[in-house]
Amino acid sequence: MKHRLFLALAIVVLVLFAIAFGVGSTPSAPTPAPSVEISTATSLRSLAETRGISIGAAVELEPFYNDARYRQVLAREFNTLVPENAFKFQFLHPNRDRYDFSHVDRLVEFAKAHKMQVRGSPLVWHYAQPDWLNQGQFTREELLGILRTHIQEVVGRYRGQVFAWDVVNEALNRDGSLRDTIWLRHIGPEYIDLAFRWAHEADPNARLFYSDYGNDELGRKSNAMYTMVAGLLQRGVPIDGVGLQTHKRLGYAPRLNLLSENIQRLEKLGLEVQFTELDITIQDGTGSQEQRFMEQAQTYRSLLQTCLAFRSCTAFITWGFTDRYTWLGSLTGQLEAPLLFDESYRPKPAYYALKDVLSSQSGK
Ligand code: G3I
Repeated sequence: MKHRLFLALAIVVLVLFAIAFGVGSTPSAPTPAPSVEISTATSLRSLAETRGISIGAAVELEPFYNDARYRQVLAREFNTLVPENAFKFQFLHPNRDRYDFSHVDRLVEFAKAHKMQVRGSPLVWHYAQPDWLNQGQFTREELLGILRTHIQEVVGRYRGQVFAWDVVNEALNRDGSLRDTIWLRHIGPEYIDLAFRWAHEADPNARLFYSDYGNDELGRKSNAMYTMVAGLLQRGVPIDGVGLQTHKRLGYAPRLNLLSENIQRLEKLGLEVQFTELDITIQDGTGSQEQRFMEQAQTYRSLLQTCLAFRSCTAFITWGFTDRYTWLGSLTGQLEAPLLFDESYRPKPAYYALKDVLSSQSGK
């Protein structure tokens, strides 16, 4: 009897030991990457707010709906949110007589709950348009009606909730000529004036922007853009600013003197300037990954310093924020790693560089 009791006790002890030390259990999930605690008090957004600048990121729907960490970092670090795709014609207006606002509504709701601003992009573009529009045979009058209705429906719905719009996006070719789009072909160059006027009618308080890429340094394209926006202002078209998308690669960062001169001349016109789609891929860099991250950080640093040096530069927005989700990842399949957080949401040197600038540089 005594012997059996001892045996039972020994078994219980053994089982407890096994449970405590995981002996024989199924393998546990991989150890998560060490998380870096960042207090809200020292987040990018809290620092940016003291400098009077918007700090933002583009938001993709898939991780927004399915990845809690994505939402957490987004709300903690940024005070401005730009739907990366949800505002595009193709998604928002899939049939001529049907709009789908459901996704943008969710993003706007999230922004409100986290005291973030929403930036809308784009209203008029040559890309991401639905088949009914691309393949339709429309008269000029019909196309004018389609564009006007689209702009007024969308801007009107989010009146007072979207602080700034990219009204016209990428209307210029690299050589400065107007891009051949459905709008230019069937309406003529005045589609640009009209788009701004209609957006302004729908929300007189929203800031209205022209946005493009390759327009950051002085050069053929930015010269043409300058002439175009100066013309808009002369004609009394309600434009408030210019978006510099700034998709860059290591080794091809904007030359800061040419960037500054460009911002300066736009400022002199009375326009705002916003960096609207920043990312800096490391793929073309040299050296180890760590060295490339340092160079990337330096580029982000100098761009933010340049922005802070101008009263007219009011926003610094990256096209995504974690290397886990970036439009570039799907382009080459190689490590592009263009953003501020790595794939495990650990802040990269670029993140610390921005914080450093925001907390130390004078100006504004
Ligand atoms: O969501 C659909 C999905 O339903 C569908 O099954 C799938 C099949 O292709 O496509 C999905 O849509 C994709 C969308 O991203 C959402 O992930 C589109 O194919 C894809 O073309 C689209 O790419 C976007 C691209 O613009 C074209 O609209 C990128 O994510 C987005 O980062 C990129 O952003 C542009 C700016 O708007 C303007 N400036 C340049 C910038 C980079 O190209």
